[in-house]
Amino acid sequence: VKISLTGIKPTGEPHLGNYVGAIKPALRLAEEYEAMYFIADYHALTTVRDPALLRHYTRSVAATWIAAGLDPDQVVFYRQSDIPEIPELAWILSCLTGKGLMNRAHAYKAARDRNQEAGKADLDAGINMGLYNYPVLMAVDILIMGTDVVPVGRDQMQHVEIAADIAGSFNHVYGDSFKLKVPQAIVPEAETGRTLPGLDGRKMSKSYDNTIPLFCSESQLKKLVRRIPTDSTPVEDPKDPDSSNVFQILEQFASPEITADTRRRLQAGGMGWGELKNQLFDILNTQLGPLRERYDALMAPGSELDALLAAGAEKARKRAVPTLDQVRRAIGIN
Ligand code: TYM
Repeated sequence: VKISLTGIKPTGEPHLGNYVGAIKPALRLAEEYEAMYFIADYHALTTVRDPALLRHYTRSVAATWIAAGLDPDQVVFYRQSDIPEIPELAWILSCLTGKGLMNRAHAYKAARDRNQEAGKADLDAGINMGLYNYPVLMAVDILIMGTDVVPVGRDQMQHVEIAADIAGSFNHVYGDSFKLKVPQAIVPEAETGRTLPGLDGRKMSKSYDNTIPLFCSESQLKKLVRRIPTDSTPVEDPKDPDSSNVFQILEQFASPEITADTRRRLQAGGMGWGELKNQLFDILNTQLGPLRERYDALMAPGSELDALLAAGAEKARKRAVPTLDQVRRAIGIN
């Protein structure tokens, strides 16, 4: 069987963009693949410095996966930091990774661009080695499990390509004795051509602080939906659904019939943004309500969450340990 694998970084509460762009499509892959899901808590360390907060976000992401329908008995579900083979392989593969390749990684380049815009003399100011090495660690997440496909949002595609590059470098040098499997990205947005917009119209992202959390309270959800920007087209005028942030979120959650009907009503005129927002709120609240209940139960202290993660780590290590073993043999450290 082929392996699919994906991870989420616990740097905040999971949001609608994660759910639509990553969680839902990734869960569907479990029908076709031996599916692995993990919480990338070592990756979160590049930004989260508060231990209690890191613990909270880690549990929150874990509870979200399960609330969204992940069945821990059917798939492999674990926490990155429970797999000690990952940081070990990360060192080994960093020795095979060109520094130039890391210089070209989007997240690092974006951080330098922000420093430039802020007029800083040192473009690397505030950038830690964790951020710089981020793609190597992510490559290891993927390669150590012998992953075939990686479902991710468009923003993570480059990272999967880097993982494939690093596997290629390893195979070029050591491939006579052992080869790492070269992974491929699966990008669900590539099918729809869309990224979920956030509260400011840019891509919904924890780093832009423009997210709608998946499991906020009903009143918070209502407030946030109201904040999604719209233009000033009067109620009675026809509106273009495809340039509306509200509609773009709605169509990811509503049934095809409701989506088509709403599209028609917007184009005809007479439907105001306020009404559209109320409709979006109702749809989100109805769909996410039952998930929120499961989520809250899992987040309660003493829930089965920690035991589930421990059992998942054991399953994941059954794949990680042999890979690291073969790598160590191949490179001459064993
Ligand atoms: P992270 O935690 O930033 O995001 C998790 C997943 O959600 C997708 N995503 C979106 N998709 C559509 N629209 C949006 N607005 C949106 N926002 C986020 C992301 O593309 C991602 O798929 N580096 C990764 C975590 C990671 C990982 C891995 C993933 C670490 N190791 C190995 C796959 C395989 C990250 O920071 O994702």
